Amino acid sequence: MVGSGTTHPQPRIPLIELLAISGSLRAASTNSALIAALAANAPAGCRITIHDGLGRLPIFNPDDEGERTPPEAARLIEAVTRSDGVIVSCPEYAHGVPGGMKNALDWLVSRDAAVGKPAMLVHASARSLYARAALAEIMRTMSFAMYDETLEIALLGKKRAEMEAILGANRPAMRDAVQGFAGFIGGL
Ligand SMILES: Cc1cc2nc3c(=O)[nH]c(=O)nc-3n(C[C@H](O)[C@H](O)[C@H](O)COP(=O)(O)O)c2cc1C
Repeated sequence: MVGSGTTHPQPRIPLIELLAISGSLRAASTNSALIAALAANAPAGCRITIHDGLGRLPIFNPDDEGERTPPEAARLIEAVTRSDGVIVSCPEYAHGVPGGMKNALDWLVSRDAAVGKPAMLVHASARSLYARAALAEIMRTMSFAMYDETLEIALLGKKRAEMEAILGANRPAMRDAVQGFAGFIGGL
């Protein structure tokens, strides 16, 4: 009751932990900017942690699995395993998925980390249609539970200030998209 001085315990709603990965290593990456904006504007009940180790991953070699798993690959596998869901924003290179992103996924192929793990694709370019399709196919094949809805915020070719303005104007859309993904995770 308001003003009574009595405090009522709030029901504890578990926090949904999401892992966000940008497929671009570029310092001024539009995909990384989108991921950072999603993390900064996560809806209540969701926390988005950015995994930025793609550039430090050695090239996948099946001989280096098990006990020989390199530390950076183990860090990625652990991060995916611990998350409730994964968000990926990835550019397109030559009508395909950039090597760094594919390499990161390759380290996850023969593990349990990806199996049934909810995943959502978001897009910083209105083009990238080949990469989108390829990434969805790869991740489905790896048994990620793909969320059908995506978010597209066209940042390609925008200067930093313009990009920040677009991302600022799209805060509600970003929150709604992540909220939808959280609902998908909750419904699995
Ligand atoms: C090597 C290279 C190849 C590219 N190939 C394509 C392509 O096939 N299709 C496309 O839509 N964009 C292509 N692009 C443009 C990038 O996808 C685009 O610049 C993207 O937004 C870069 O993402 P980033 O800002 O996160 O680094 C290419 C860019 C580079 C550097």
